[in-house]
Amino acid sequence: MKCRVKEGDLTKETTEVLVLGGCEDEHTVPRACREVDRALNGQLHELRTSGEFTGKTYQSVLIHTHGALPAKRILLMGLGKKKTVTLDRVRQAMGAASKRIRQTGASEFVAPVLETGAARTSVSDVAQAMVEGAILGGYRFTQYRSERERPSRDIRTMTLLTTQANQIRDMKAGVRRGEVSASATSLARDLCNHPSNVMTPSRIVQEARTIARDCKLKLTVLGRKEQERMGMGGMTGVSRGSQEPPQFIVLDYAGGRKTERPLVLVGKTITFDSGGISLKPSEHMEQMKADMTGGAEVLSAVRAAAQLRLPVNVVGILPAAENMPGGRAMRPGDILHMLNGTTVEVQNTDAEGRLVLADGLAYATRFRPAGIIDVATLTGACIVALGQFAIGMLGNDDRLKAALRTAGEQAGERVWEMPLWDDYAEQLKSDVADMRNIGGRGGGMITAGVFLSKFVGDCPWVHLDIASTDWSLSERPCISKGPTAVGARLLVQFLINYASRPER
Ligand code: BES
Ligand code: MN
Ligand code: ZN
Repeated sequence: MKCRVKEGDLTKETTEVLVLGGCEDEHTVPRACREVDRALNGQLHELRTSGEFTGKTYQSVLIHTHGALPAKRILLMGLGKKKTVTLDRVRQAMGAASKRIRQTGASEFVAPVLETGAARTSVSDVAQAMVEGAILGGYRFTQYRSERERPSRDIRTMTLLTTQANQIRDMKAGVRRGEVSASATSLARDLCNHPSNVMTPSRIVQEARTIARDCKLKLTVLGRKEQERMGMGGMTGVSRGSQEPPQFIVLDYAGGRKTERPLVLVGKTITFDSGGISLKPSEHMEQMKADMTGGAEVLSAVRAAAQLRLPVNVVGILPAAENMPGGRAMRPGDILHMLNGTTVEVQNTDAEGRLVLADGLAYATRFRPAGIIDVATLTGACIVALGQFAIGMLGNDDRLKAALRTAGEQAGERVWEMPLWDDYAEQLKSDVADMRNIGGRGGGMITAGVFLSKFVGDCPWVHLDIASTDWSLSERPCISKGPTAVGARLLVQFLINYASRPER
């Protein structure tokens, strides 16, 4: 979808659909829409008084103008109570609108910049949220559908309208951020939607190579031999049962000063998690094609940083492997020598994410980073604890955690902190090695986080467990059914904020 910005007048715009927002606690037509209502002989007012349009969240009413206006149709979108209209409400309203518009067959629409109830949101933030909503609401994965099954066409153009010429510049900046961050999510969703027979670790290398070429990033790929030589026991252990060679992928975006320490993002990239010898039950196992979401999001976020030319140094690390059973597979009881010298007794081969991440994190510390953030579909316990609406967060640095909390609120991809207390380390004790890879009953998300913490040295670090938000069973305004890629925009927003922090 192309997104444009324009100064103009609602009553004069020629378009297939004009999108207008309405709040629950406005009982008349808002001032900005009075002229439109007059042209329509008071239809908007009538929809209000009859109770057909109440302004409730994401309610929509579509009317035809029959030539009363240059706009062919008007789509009224409910935004809920005025005071509660957040950026995320705006984003989701646009997501719902974009699905409704596509149903009409329209190929373009016009929408004035909506108003939020919050005091501190700028017109550029609103423009960003509107663009994100419109793009994400329209997301579909159709690559494996044969021609005759292809769904209706997509919306081609969106136009954001303002009456104030002095807002155009800010709106354009917001639109650009919105396009980049939404396409980060779309890319991550695509990568996760591809089945595991296609999206193998080697195919991810290819994807990374294309992005590295397009965005002028430095790419380093360590294959199995190299991993063995370096002593990445997590990588080589987890991938032993698979025919697919493991790939350790490192992308480097140098947008900041040479001397500036980088941020390092590490994403769990298990292209299929069968559980290995500790085989998973077959029900829903197909969802484990998305056990590479963390890596997909890291790849997308690094691309976004480059596309926005953010003045920061960012390194993305994707430890990519497939977790399969087999005659050569890693067994429960095996002991692995990890990159940082720690030995780990594998008590459950299904706790594989933390094993590849351990090597990823240990590698990350070599960059002397300003911060490390890892993203991973790590534990079923995260789903039990948080349900679908919060990302689990654990970390050793209050400022980094606060920055992720803020970015999460802005992106509508919120995090919730769990305690990273060393009391839990007790549960990871092994009789034969430095640690075991499972923590036993209770606190599964926490013990996984504590396990990871042993590989970051004294670097500022945050771990995000996205198992909770990873997969949606239903279609939502901005979240597609299946892989959601929730976390991608969180990372992008975090990088945007970090790049403009005052102390740099
Ligand atoms: N990838 C899974 C976690 C997961 C489960 C993500 C469901 C999304 C949906 C992870 O590798 C795993 O299997 N974790 C185990 C760890 C356990 C063996 C300690 C789990 O949570 O059951
Ligand atoms: Mn697993
Ligand atoms: Zn897994």
